[in-house]
Amino acid sequence: MSDILTNFEQSERLKKLPPYLFVRLEELAATKRKEGMDMIDFGIGDPDLPTPDKIVKSLQIAAEDNENQKYSSSQGEKDLREAVARWYKKRFGVDVDPKTQVCITLGSKEAIFNISQAFVNPEEIIIAPSPGYPVYSGASALFNEARCASVPLREDNGWLLDVEECPRDAKMLYLNYPNNPTGATCDLPYLRKVYEWCRSTNTILCYDNAYSEMCYDDYRAPSILQAGPDCIEFGSFSKTFNMTGFRLGYAVGHPDLVAGLKKCKGQIDSGAPIFIQKAGITALDMYGEDGTPPGMIRSNMAAYAERREVLVNGLRELGFDVAMPKGTFYVWFNCGMPSDEFTEKMIDLGIIVTPGPGFGLSAEGYVRMTVTEPVERIKDALLRMKRGGIGRA
Ligand SMILES: Cc1ncc(COP(=O)(O)O)c(C=O)c1O
Repeated sequence: MSDILTNFEQSERLKKLPPYLFVRLEELAATKRKEGMDMIDFGIGDPDLPTPDKIVKSLQIAAEDNENQKYSSSQGEKDLREAVARWYKKRFGVDVDPKTQVCITLGSKEAIFNISQAFVNPEEIIIAPSPGYPVYSGASALFNEARCASVPLREDNGWLLDVEECPRDAKMLYLNYPNNPTGATCDLPYLRKVYEWCRSTNTILCYDNAYSEMCYDDYRAPSILQAGPDCIEFGSFSKTFNMTGFRLGYAVGHPDLVAGLKKCKGQIDSGAPIFIQKAGITALDMYGEDGTPPGMIRSNMAAYAERREVLVNGLRELGFDVAMPKGTFYVWFNCGMPSDEFTEKMIDLGIIVTPGPGFGLSAEGYVRMTVTEPVERIKDALLRMKRGGIGRA
């Protein structure tokens, strides 16, 4: 192949986008694997447990029907939108209109990006908490030529965004609890405060609730729609039902915001495959009438809870100061040295972790570990760390 043709040069916008965090990590790990090292992977947040049979079966049956092999609509199938509305009622006690307030999405990531395409003009401000899910400050801000106001979250404030530190002239605010990467959670009074602040400053509140069902002990994550209807919330089947590869999610909220998202999606993806949406109905309907999660979610969370305890306690024994998260499957802590240095030391031991600055520069010195390895592997990793002299004890 000859030199790059000048026309094939990436756009200035794309060039500004840093490589997606996990691409670089995967490359590093792949090199080690090639060298024959057994890698214990606490990197990407992808459940290791399988999608429940009942959901897979309903996907298989639906895929055989010719009606389900056609285009869906950009807003998604009516019966899944209705299932989402039923689920909001039983899970959060919130009434939503499936015709105007629900849009089915290709996972929540797509919608988190497309909502900014739909509403943000060049030079307007997007508030992105730091650390935070990279799409808020990455593609959402860059591809709209928006200005990103990166507002630091702080450990001594329980990693909660303090709205008083946010610019009052922003167009959009992203917020996410249970939080990736910190594992922090919040309560409804906190959400009410943020909701009122957004209304008073005329800021579009985009609430990323991808981890709403990943809660431990007595904690149950609230929905921003319990605070009020003038906002939009993104949810996902990915982590809740071990369905990351299905690429299915939903956006629920104010009809004008949903309409903007739908218009944008109409030009871009034409909606999620219908047979996958049918599997989504089966998944949501597994919840009890009183909003109780099905056995599958309870046993998933019991497995993560045990792993989380083994990992957090093991890290504490090594001398790290680590909080026991009440939500998500992430363990987040200060590693006592530059994050990249720690990550590389861990890779040399055959352990993959995610360096904090991948979620925002204010997270220098922190790392994230995902509990997607079985208990025995977690114990093995802790032993490798001890033998490798990693720790602050
Ligand atoms: C905070 C947060 N939001 C959204 C997503 C996107 O998930 P999906 O597109 O699979 O629904 C993720 C995935 O890791 C996430 O961590």
